[in-house]
Amino acid sequence: MKKRILVVEDEDKLRRVLELQLASAGFDVDKAASAEEGVKLADRADLVLTDLKLPNMDGLQLLALIRRQNAQVPVIVMTAYGSVETAVESMKAGATDFLLKPFSLDHLMQVVHKAIEVRDLRDENRLLKQELGRRYEFDNIIGRSQPMQEVFATIERVAPTRATVLLAGESGVGKDLIARAIHFHSPRRDRPLVKINCSALPENLMESELFGYEKGAFTGANATKPGKFEQADTGTVFLDEIGDVPGAIQVKLLRVLQEREFERLGSNVTRHIDVRVIAATNQDLRAALEQGTFREDLYYRLNVVPMNIPPLRERKVDIPSLAAHFLRKLAPDAGSRVTSITDAAIEKLMAYHWPGNVRELENVIERSLVMCTGTQLDAAGIQLESAPRPRAQSDQHFLPEGLTLDQYEQDIIREALRRADGNKSQAARMLGLTRNALRYRLAQMGLEG
Ligand SMILES: Nc1ncnc2c1ncn2[C@@H]1O[C@H](COP(=O)(O)OP(=O)(O)OP(=O)(O)O)[C@@H](O)[C@H]1O
Ligand SMILES: [Mg+2]
Repeated sequence: MKKRILVVEDEDKLRRVLELQLASAGFDVDKAASAEEGVKLADRADLVLTDLKLPNMDGLQLLALIRRQNAQVPVIVMTAYGSVETAVESMKAGATDFLLKPFSLDHLMQVVHKAIEVRDLRDENRLLKQELGRRYEFDNIIGRSQPMQEVFATIERVAPTRATVLLAGESGVGKDLIARAIHFHSPRRDRPLVKINCSALPENLMESELFGYEKGAFTGANATKPGKFEQADTGTVFLDEIGDVPGAIQVKLLRVLQEREFERLGSNVTRHIDVRVIAATNQDLRAALEQGTFREDLYYRLNVVPMNIPPLRERKVDIPSLAAHFLRKLAPDAGSRVTSITDAAIEKLMAYHWPGNVRELENVIERSLVMCTGTQLDAAGIQLESAPRPRAQSDQHFLPEGLTLDQYEQDIIREALRRADGNKSQAARMLGLTRNALRYRLAQMGLEG
């Protein structure tokens, strides 16, 4: 089916050129010389291309009106060269992309095709979400919960494309795993997947690591070395901890994302590469945007397909199948005979709040397997990392549900002893008690004096 593009441009000549170009590329074109006319045609458009400076009403107001009528339609704004701030403003207001005038027709077509591709992707994704509930595993990624089902559907839809993906979620929720799944389901699966941990490198090293350097670029540069982006050419770059990238490097990343080009340190030869970018963050990038530590333009380039992976405590229905999965996976290596897990043990896992998410669950299962001598893992054999904490924020300074103060105190004392490997002096220090005070409490608990 032909897609319909609405062009809103008050300058007759440009409107005509755009119309001809889009029509010859196979689109149906609606045209409007003013915002008022544009609004009337917006709801049947598959994409809107609008000037920002229009008589009577500016493009941003028009954008807001269009969004009210047709929330999903991609809107590309055209703006005069030198007004990048306005372009960023319009992205914030919900524009899909922008074109700085004057632009080439090639560039126009690239931006249009990209916007339509992303739009189709999101549509299909929505359809897929509606018929969810059949698949509880994607490769080795386990998840029955609604949010994980959506993650699987999104992986399936984005993997075949080159769209940039931004994975957001707390540490240990599975961002690495998902990034790999996207790469290995993409046409690039036989090409390199290069991971760059942006928090591990100081700024000066990061630049040479990412973009490479020429011999003599700096002291110690004894030979020419290609950077990670070059290594990843025709493949995928996974930028982990993207929130930690220093400002100077953000500019260069933006250029790679936008133009797919860069220079090695100490070289003036511009290199072109073909990479697919997946980025991940465990910080709230929106907060970084507000504080001005993360560039807005880079954020919008990265956030083409956002994927938010919720913490494990918000999708506890995933716990039983994850536990079973880790048991199958880890028991042989741990030399364990365990083949099943009791309901009571599952209940204990479900009651915990999992600050370390799936990674912590994996560790807990592994440790419990090592300690367990039988063939069944029971609640007593589950070695949690710390005493269960209250779940809700408002309960933060109160007792966990169902416990008395005495019981809670006893739990903490047992936990301290466990952490101290039974050493009472050490446990007493952890609790801020003298050794005698601890002995007195232990005696009360019937655990010797
Ligand atoms: N849904 C899942 N199914 C199976 N295993 C999982 C799942 N999610 C995470 N894991 C496992 O948990 C561990 C942590 O996952 P991963 O390294 O992908 O987390 P992350 O989000 O990248 O964490 P960080 O922000 O600390 O880098 C890995 O061993 C991974 O295999
Ligand atoms: Mg990770």
